[in-house]
Amino acid sequence: MLFMCHQMAMKKEAQDKIKAEELRKAQAGSDIPIIWILGGPGCGKGTQCAKIVEKYGFTHLSSGDLLREEVASDSDKGRQLQAIMTSGALVPNEEVLSLLNGAISRAKGSSKGFLIDGYPREKGQGIAFEEQIAPADLVLYFECAEETMKDRILARANAAAVKRADDNEATILARLKTFKDNTNAILQQYVEKTLTINANRPVEEIFLDVVQAIDCVLKKKQKVSA
Ligand code: AP5
Repeated sequence: MLFMCHQMAMKKEAQDKIKAEELRKAQAGSDIPIIWILGGPGCGKGTQCAKIVEKYGFTHLSSGDLLREEVASDSDKGRQLQAIMTSGALVPNEEVLSLLNGAISRAKGSSKGFLIDGYPREKGQGIAFEEQIAPADLVLYFECAEETMKDRILARANAAAVKRADDNEATILARLKTFKDNTNAILQQYVEKTLTINANRPVEEIFLDVVQAIDCVLKKKQKVSA
């Protein structure tokens, strides 16, 4: 029985690898942009993504939202994820990447572009994504003061009908620490395709910079595929 389970797991792993390789090949040379959205907790990633979706019709995949959907299923795995998220730590990458991979595969074909919000959160995640899914075309990093991020999350929590389990002072501090410990290495790794945007400004002002960067990537992609 144990042997059979092992065989089945190996077969699934091999199938997943083939699927990922097909996806990676299809994306190479594709004119659909993949944009990573980085920044600390509460810097405004989700807010800017909503505006990008409105303007460009891209597919918004938030790693946090995908994880919260899993948590809402109330499975054993969901409970484990919830515990990690409430501690402010990072969920193991296999979980996050597999959720993203599934969502990208489902949207592929009809998508005009992908916004990968809250990923990568450490260097290894970026490497795994580019190896297994596709290279990112652009990295938007929303740089924001810690106090501002904290205040924004607390304001969101106060206004929410249903408060997020990780939107409390203690978890916010832990989330900020996790962010600080990992982000420099990611930024150094992707210097050439990263645009750092000052996120200590009003939403509309930030969005002007976002639009400029996305228009530039779209133009580049169109040129390559022409
Ligand atoms: P996730 O859900 O991604 O949370 P986060 O990164 O902490 O970010 P938030 O969703 O809280 O904020 P945001 O930057 O989207 O800001 P928003 O636009 O909402 O991740 C949660 C957890 O899941 C992680 O801690 C981790 O455990 C796990 N996880 C997620 N991804 C993972 C990964 N890749 N690997 C491993 N684990 C992972 O704005 C916040 C508030 O501010 C809103 O009220 C908004 O209206 C307001 N606001 C926004 N912009 C402005 C502005 N310019 N001016 C004034 N107010 C503004």
